[in-house]
Amino acid sequence: MSTAKKQYKRITVKSLQEMKLNNQKIAMLTSYDYSTAKLVDAAGVDVILVGDSASNVFAGHETTLPITLDQMIYHASGVVRAAQRALIVVDIPFGSYQSDSKEALRSAIRIMKESGAHAVKVEGGAEIKESLSRIIQAGIPVMGHLGLTPQSIYKFGTYSVRAREEEEAKKLLEDVALLEKIGCFAIVLEKVPAKLAEIVSNNTNIPIIGIGAGPKVDGQVLVVNDMLGMNKEFSPRFLRRYLDLESEITNAVQQYVKDTKDNSFPSEKEQY
Ligand code: KIV
Repeated sequence: MSTAKKQYKRITVKSLQEMKLNNQKIAMLTSYDYSTAKLVDAAGVDVILVGDSASNVFAGHETTLPITLDQMIYHASGVVRAAQRALIVVDIPFGSYQSDSKEALRSAIRIMKESGAHAVKVEGGAEIKESLSRIIQAGIPVMGHLGLTPQSIYKFGTYSVRAREEEEAKKLLEDVALLEKIGCFAIVLEKVPAKLAEIVSNNTNIPIIGIGAGPKVDGQVLVVNDMLGMNKEFSPRFLRRYLDLESEITNAVQQYVKDTKDNSFPSEKEQY
């Protein structure tokens, strides 16, 4: 039997389903701009999430709540222009889908039409069922997001691990089943016990993408700025840093400042 992994020219929601069936893990990262997305895409990431974490890492807000639909569309447009292989998923931001399902659909349509993205991601379970159904019925692929849902930070009060208690774990399992039933193509599971995430993945036919949810899920997602080590102050247990860009960038900029001030930049070769 061949163990060769299937190669995909362009990732679609169907490719992700196949990857789950074939035990091929899904690699997902965020990007918020053209230059980063170009590198992330060329390096082989399957899904690029234009996350509302842009509100934190790009705009410096404390939470994801302030980012607007227009700003998400702006970020997503650059990412779409960069990516040739990855599936592009865009977060519907806080305040653009909660009031009613018609508003949710309008927001999803704006994202798809104005940015050219391939799918949207929405935080929440049973409480937003109508909105999710309406968007899916309009032909827009929806990725769910359960467990720690940062848009509800003021309800939770902390960013700590979710669904440790039986009651919350039961609600999470019900929400997963509901999201699968109404047609979500995948679910992000954030900061839940690894054992619970394993149960979810084993009992679901759609891909479960974890962040702080252990290894026994169908794929992983990280915020690109975090995994590149751009902010050492943010150090959750689930984060693996693949670079120390904070030091690299600081050293490079310090060298540039020095070269400029002591007149060693530009050199003879760097002028016309
Ligand atoms: O906005 C985001 O970056 C996310 C990921 C943490 C999954 O939702």
